[in-house]
Amino acid sequence: MIRLLSILFIVFLSYEALAAPALYRPLRKGKSFTVERIKRSGYVRNGPAALRKAYRKFGGSGSHMDYPDSNDGDFDPYPSSMGHQSSSTTSSSSSSSSSSSTTTDTDQEGTVSVTSVDDGEEFVSPVLIGGQNITLDFDTGSADMWVINSELPSEDTEGHEVYDPTSSSTFEYVEGEFEVEYGDGSYVAGYLGKDTVSIGGVEVTDQVFGLPVEVSSTFIEDTSSNGLVGLSFSSINSFTPGPQKTFFDNVAPDLDEPVFTSRLRSDGVGEYGFGTIDPSLYNGTLANVSVDSSNGYWQFNSKTFKVGDGRSWNISDTTISIADTGTTLLLVSADVVSYYYGKVSGSTYSSKVGGYIYPCDADLPDLALGMGESSFQAVVPGSSLNYAEVGTNSTTGETMCYGGVQSCAGYGFQIFGDIFLRSFYVVFDKRGPSLGVATSI
Ligand SMILES: *[C@@H]1O[C@H](CO)[C@@H](O)[C@H](O)[C@H]1NC(C)=O
Ligand SMILES: *[C@@H]1O[C@H](CO)[C@@H](O)[C@H](O)[C@H]1NC(C)=O
Ligand SMILES: *[C@@H]1O[C@H](CO)[C@@H](O)[C@H](O)[C@H]1NC(C)=O
Ligand SMILES: *[C@@H]1O[C@H](CO)[C@@H](O)[C@H](O)[C@H]1NC(C)=O
Ligand SMILES: *[C@@H]1O[C@H](CO)[C@@H](O)[C@H](O)[C@H]1NC(C)=O
Repeated sequence: MIRLLSILFIVFLSYEALAAPALYRPLRKGKSFTVERIKRSGYVRNGPAALRKAYRKFGGSGSHMDYPDSNDGDFDPYPSSMGHQSSSTTSSSSSSSSSSSTTTDTDQEGTVSVTSVDDGEEFVSPVLIGGQNITLDFDTGSADMWVINSELPSEDTEGHEVYDPTSSSTFEYVEGEFEVEYGDGSYVAGYLGKDTVSIGGVEVTDQVFGLPVEVSSTFIEDTSSNGLVGLSFSSINSFTPGPQKTFFDNVAPDLDEPVFTSRLRSDGVGEYGFGTIDPSLYNGTLANVSVDSSNGYWQFNSKTFKVGDGRSWNISDTTISIADTGTTLLLVSADVVSYYYGKVSGSTYSSKVGGYIYPCDADLPDLALGMGESSFQAVVPGSSLNYAEVGTNSTTGETMCYGGVQSCAGYGFQIFGDIFLRSFYVVFDKRGPSLGVATSI
């Protein structure tokens, strides 16, 4: 279907050769803006759904497979929390991207506000594509950019901001196609195009992105986001016939420093910054965490953990970890979560919802996680580790909550998602590459 439509399109529309070098326009320094927080009424946070979203992205067997029968017979989950599903493993293609471009201007920098939709369920930011202002999800756990667009059937775009390539004078089709399938069978697929993309005043002309003509219902229903800006390494860009550069890789040579920064906040507007590190946004000094980019992710080692004022332990399961703004939860080794919830009174693993739950009035201790090869540990305050109400204990009548930290068993690596990232100012640095991490202010 996609292939047929794609042939029709190529016949009707002109296209350009792949990977034409991107051109950059220098902009004023320090341009920034903020948006008001988007708040949607009637939204209920759903922990198991947040976990399913991670399965959708990375595949995996589902953490509930790795636990003995749980003792949750008297737990009544809210109806929307039922139906935990496992999924098959996805594999991501990987090859190197080679196109390079030279620029002489090195004075771009800018910040873009990031809006916490639904109390930190998802962080979205405005992006100008061919001058059209579209709210997108920045995703350091993938390398594809795609946007809900006017080629989709109108019933699929209801409630979304829709990019219309026909009303952009700078848009051009690019030969090729893209199709991303996720572990649970959800997908996006369509054509490739390029246009001027501007984020917080930092601009790339000829940014290549996907224009889906088919999206599965999971993306249609999520009206808070109208697509993704992938910010992992370009090597895992999944476009056909070959990988295209991410926005960040296109703009990095043109920046004062080859960095972008995240400061996600659940309590309001945070921001992503490009090209500069702002010391007024963090406390103390940045820890330098070395990154292994060979798998295309912002990947590092997390080898130790500490709960509350306790001693530090070595993590015995997987220590491989990625920083992923596109995943909501903090997913860590099974030994870490079982030790952590051992310190939370009334907590239990619920197979009904596929995760750890506890009475909502329980005190959550802080969780410190090692990052990198030094002794540095990043401390997530206990108050940041609660995720959402999930049901009721029918014996005690207590309202039960779903933890923001859950097991990564089934993925083979730990995922430091928004529940972790929103406590820190994080510098995604091409030098090294490395991550700079400090408590955000
Ligand atoms: C884009 O839209 C947001 C609101 O969603 C607004 O705050 C921002 O100023 C707009 N940006 C531009 C450049 O128009
Ligand atoms: C419900 O509360 C009872 C009494 O405290 C406890 O024994 C049981 O494990 C709890 N069940 C769940 C699923 O939390
Ligand atoms: C910054 O760090 C100092 C020393 O650790 C601490 O006393 C202070 O409360 C911190 N400030 C913020 C805003 O976190
Ligand atoms: C943790 O691992 C390090 C090196 O891998 C080792 O030197 C240390 O003794 C271990 N600590 C514990 C508590 O096992
Ligand atoms: C972090 O360390 C790496 C190598 O260890 C180095 O290349 C990089 O410049 C350092 N980053 C900062 C911000 O100091």
